[in-house]
Amino acid sequence: MSADSIVLRKCHGLGEMQACVALQKQVWNFSDAELVPLRIFVVAEKIGGQVIGAFENGKLVGFAFAIPGTRAGHVYLHSHMLAVLPEHRNAGVGRRLKLYQRDEALMRGIEVIEWTFDPLEIKNAYLNIERLGAIARRYHVNQYGITSSPLQGGLPTDRLVAEWWLKSKRVESVLATEASTPFQILKTISVPAQVYEWKASPVTKERAREILDCNRQDFLEAFSDGLAVLGYQCDPTGNGKFFLGRWDEKWMYAPK
Ligand SMILES: CC(C)(COP(=O)(O)OP(=O)(O)OC[C@H]1O[C@@H](n2cnc3c(N)ncnc32)[C@H](O)[C@@H]1OP(=O)(O)O)[C@@H](O)C(=O)NCCC(=O)NCCS
Repeated sequence: MSADSIVLRKCHGLGEMQACVALQKQVWNFSDAELVPLRIFVVAEKIGGQVIGAFENGKLVGFAFAIPGTRAGHVYLHSHMLAVLPEHRNAGVGRRLKLYQRDEALMRGIEVIEWTFDPLEIKNAYLNIERLGAIARRYHVNQYGITSSPLQGGLPTDRLVAEWWLKSKRVESVLATEASTPFQILKTISVPAQVYEWKASPVTKERAREILDCNRQDFLEAFSDGLAVLGYQCDPTGNGKFFLGRWDEKWMYAPK
């Protein structure tokens, strides 16, 4: 599947918003009570959020959804969902949706997009940290409680907060040269490739929980010591590794 046949644009109208809700259900398999409902998509688009779709021949195959936030008087976007249909994955659509979000935000003078991500999701972490240049220095324990999504395997919904400083030297360099600013690695945190299998079976779920617990402790300690996630690597057998170092505030445009 070529990503070139996919057109990205803002979603408009109830039909396209409803298609996002349906795709959300298909990707996460949430119960109806846990779905972000149609009316929130509609409102988000009207109040300065983003509902961006990836379309193939007019059919929605992926979307990015963000709501506006403020911190210390500065407007930013909180990107709540990024989803691509399984048969369209690994063709660059997810990354293109994030880049569209960035361009659209910058056009409106917004310099930061944040989102949270599951620290056990290897592909997602790689996309966020290495391919987009986001950093992480905050950790939320069991953010949403236990959800019905099979992707979560009944484990606590721990989340890392990705901060995407859209005009930072780090992000500009990652996007232009695919290489991030070098830094001294002060700590590593590993995620074994088998974690997906372990989460999926009641027999092995405890092993996934042990990794979650152990990494949670490591992240909380590292962040309280002022470290940030600045790098990520996947080895050829699919294991993931976070690299932590000191985030230099000079690398971003600090809020005025
Ligand atoms: C996360 C998601 C949106 C990514 O979409 P996508 O279109 O497949 O992403 P891309 O094709 O842009 O791939 C991103 C990177 O991950 C890499 N990747 C793919 N599979 C991988 C794997 N198993 N391990 C490590 N990296 C992997 C890709 O190669 C690509 O890197 P590259 O550009 O260097 O090749 C999609 O997998 C998805 O919908 N997942 C379920 C929902 C979800 O978890 N959403 C995110 C949280 S809200």
